[in-house]
Amino acid sequence: MLKYDIRDIAKAADGKNRIEWADSHMPVLNIIRQRFAKEKPLAGYTLAACLHVTTETANLVRTLKAGGATVALCASNPLSTQDDVAASLVKDYGISVFAINGEDKKTYYRHIHQALDFKPQLTMDDGADLVSTLHSERRELLPGVMAGTEETTTGVIRLRAMAHDGALAYPIIAVNDSKTKHFFDNRYGTGQSTLDGIIRATNHLVAGSTVVVAGYGWCGRGFAVRAAGMGAHVIVTEVDPVKGIEAAMDGFRVMSMAKAVPTGDVFVTLTGDINVIRPEHFARMKDGAIVCNSGHFNVELDLDGLKKISKSVRTVRPYVEEYTLKNGRRVHILAEGRLINLAAAEGHPAVVMDMSFANQALGAEYLVKLKKPLSKNVHVIPTVIDDKIAAMKLASMDITIDKLTPEQKKYLASWQMGT
Ligand code: ADE
Repeated sequence: MLKYDIRDIAKAADGKNRIEWADSHMPVLNIIRQRFAKEKPLAGYTLAACLHVTTETANLVRTLKAGGATVALCASNPLSTQDDVAASLVKDYGISVFAINGEDKKTYYRHIHQALDFKPQLTMDDGADLVSTLHSERRELLPGVMAGTEETTTGVIRLRAMAHDGALAYPIIAVNDSKTKHFFDNRYGTGQSTLDGIIRATNHLVAGSTVVVAGYGWCGRGFAVRAAGMGAHVIVTEVDPVKGIEAAMDGFRVMSMAKAVPTGDVFVTLTGDINVIRPEHFARMKDGAIVCNSGHFNVELDLDGLKKISKSVRTVRPYVEEYTLKNGRRVHILAEGRLINLAAAEGHPAVVMDMSFANQALGAEYLVKLKKPLSKNVHVIPTVIDDKIAAMKLASMDITIDKLTPEQKKYLASWQMGT
């Protein structure tokens, strides 16, 4: 039965247009959806999905439904839900959605529980809040859950910690670890959408600004390259020595956050860790500095600490809060420290989510078709599936690449031949 809790069903027409626009940029998912509609690999399965409720997610959910699944969708972040998309999913596509943009923490978790009330055999998570709620507050449902997938780096780290503690009750596929996911979504998706969020929120001119990037993983490096491409002077901060060298050899200045703070105009955290920018950093920033986060959770900026050294806070434009510090300087925090690309912009473009969500759809199919269940651990998608997604994407881009000649194959398999 269709159940939902969304902002306003009357927004459905706008949502439908935007879902269709995204769909026209998701050719790989389209091919999968057409096959799923014929073969129904997910028939009889109920799937609880905790994902950013965007136009791209809508097309994933449509694909899962075409494959025969019953889907209950809740949000993986209180600020990322696109209310028109939620409305269209309910009205036009018959999906149960529990997500309202701006929902408070209590509602956010109530919505996760409402998705879990569907008693899923499969879970699809982005950040592992659904899985963690299931393992802590809804353990009675665990025997019915067969397997799951996880979208993002932060979620995979949490799940690996659960598996390490022996706490994970069923196998999970780390979609994030597919090559066709993190090389593209994390790098080009985050790179572009983070800049998009900052610009939409502030209308700041990137050219000539000093942009401090905390974290040089795939997301950080994607963002650093895009910011440099728009004319920013980019400084990278890292804790990992190898990544520090990479950033330096990629041409960026690398230094500690303490050293970077007096020069930065814009600060972006993309680390996945807590309290990366702390009161001792905020206190030494330039007047008017812009600070935001593009990591999964709103923990990377110590906003409680910032409040303690501030004398007032006011909203100066949507998504921009101005903290006036006791030292008289102003710091501008974007989107309450939540991921800027999904809060102030629309997340990654559909072209890149096409590959991420092809991994989700094919990952779900792989899990239900397995002859022998996987161990209660975090697994990667088989390379053949990853490579198949890459081949489909390349074909959709009308790109043909070379094939190894028999002689080249033989050469690569031999060890006798040298100079
Ligand atoms: N994560 C980042 N961008 C996204 C998008 N557009 N849709 C769903 N999840 C996302």
